[in-house]
Amino acid sequence: MTTIPKDKNFDSSLILLRDGYEFIQKKRENLGIDIFSTRLMLKETICMSGKEAAEVFYDTEKFQRKGATPKRVQKTLFGQKGVQTLDNSAHRQRKEMFMSLMKPDSLRRFLEIQKSYWEKYISKWEKEEQIILFNEAQELLCRAVCTWSGVPLREEEVQQRAKDFGAMVDAFGAIGPRHWRGKQARKRAEKWIGNLIKEIRNDKIHVEKGTAAHSIAFHRELDGKLLDTKVAAVELINVLRPTVAIATYIIFTGIALHQNPQYKKEIQTGKDNLTEILVQEVRRFYPFTPMVGAIVRKEFEWKGYMFKRGRLVLLDIYGMLHDPELWEDPHEFHPERFINWDGNPFTLVPQGGGEHLHGHRCAGEWLTIESMKQAVDFLINRMTYEVPDQDLTFSLSRMPTLPRSGFMISKIKKLP
Ligand code: HEM
Repeated sequence: MTTIPKDKNFDSSLILLRDGYEFIQKKRENLGIDIFSTRLMLKETICMSGKEAAEVFYDTEKFQRKGATPKRVQKTLFGQKGVQTLDNSAHRQRKEMFMSLMKPDSLRRFLEIQKSYWEKYISKWEKEEQIILFNEAQELLCRAVCTWSGVPLREEEVQQRAKDFGAMVDAFGAIGPRHWRGKQARKRAEKWIGNLIKEIRNDKIHVEKGTAAHSIAFHRELDGKLLDTKVAAVELINVLRPTVAIATYIIFTGIALHQNPQYKKEIQTGKDNLTEILVQEVRRFYPFTPMVGAIVRKEFEWKGYMFKRGRLVLLDIYGMLHDPELWEDPHEFHPERFINWDGNPFTLVPQGGGEHLHGHRCAGEWLTIESMKQAVDFLINRMTYEVPDQDLTFSLSRMPTLPRSGFMISKIKKLP
């Protein structure tokens, strides 16, 4: 048994800030090894990548999530004591509640709601010279997910709430003002949603059974108790925030269609399944989640390497999605690669790998895919627009990243 090769730098936190999404991949290339140990924020951390690494990373006998999320991420992106930090039966109990929101009927309802907002927004955009699609999509999704979840949203608060959900996501990997904005945004959102949970429980506000607000407000833990109000707010925000974040994928979808117009024509002519594989390729090709972390539950050996109990391990999500061992010509945008894809749960991991119910794979992955497919339909079949000159590039050092212009579109017309 050998120890995992160590990076020579005393601490690599600054290199992580510089290299961003490419941090693990670049280090692997420089060191000529697949797995290495480095220090991040002075903490010994193992970094690994690849299909087999993902298989072991999602083995819940070997890894736990308790203790894996840094405080600064809990204060912005995740909140405290949410499903992301749970293990064993406590995780399973909470995750079942999330997955119960993702049944086919419930997803259909989300799409009906989202569709009605796309229609309203296109009518509004027709009256404007040009729009920044990222900001508009965040608002559209915020309205859709609040309606779907049973969360009342006053007209005058839409903009601020949508911005706040965006700021929590934007704070990931940030120091300074971006981190601070994320923290303030979380405080506001937890206060708002915490009050709502209390009102639902006191019957001051009626919400439909089966909605996220109802399910979370009345969810019972293993001990039979309701969730603490603050934790319930964190969990309801765990539905609202990431749904608003689908705006990032919608922008990348718009850019993909703009830069690869052949797919527009093929989708218009009804080519089989093309929307689905295009959406999969957008999730593979464009950067969103850079990495995920877990803690070694008990000492074990893998490929001759020793994993010590309590060690933090990062799985390289972005690197895996651009790994030539897993994807031919990974830096080419090529949806056709998914035509005969085997559906392996450990290769296409933009929203985590493994299994949804037993593991930590994203609870909202199906909703994300369906939401994006509907966005493709609107962008191609239900509206026309022009894409004025703008800077569509994005930086891989910034986590999360976004095209610099936010994707401006102009001369929008609704198609009959
Ligand atoms: C977990 C990404 C949309 C709810 C995750 C994870 C990732 C992720 C990487 C962690 C996987 C892991 O820890 O191994 C994304 C991306 C999205 C998205 C890129 C698109 C914008 C959604 C949506 C929802 C959602 C729409 C809910 C409606 C959750 C929840 C978890 C999670 C509750 C925690 C699951 C657990 O710990 O068991 N997501 N997600 N996500 N996501 Fe998403």
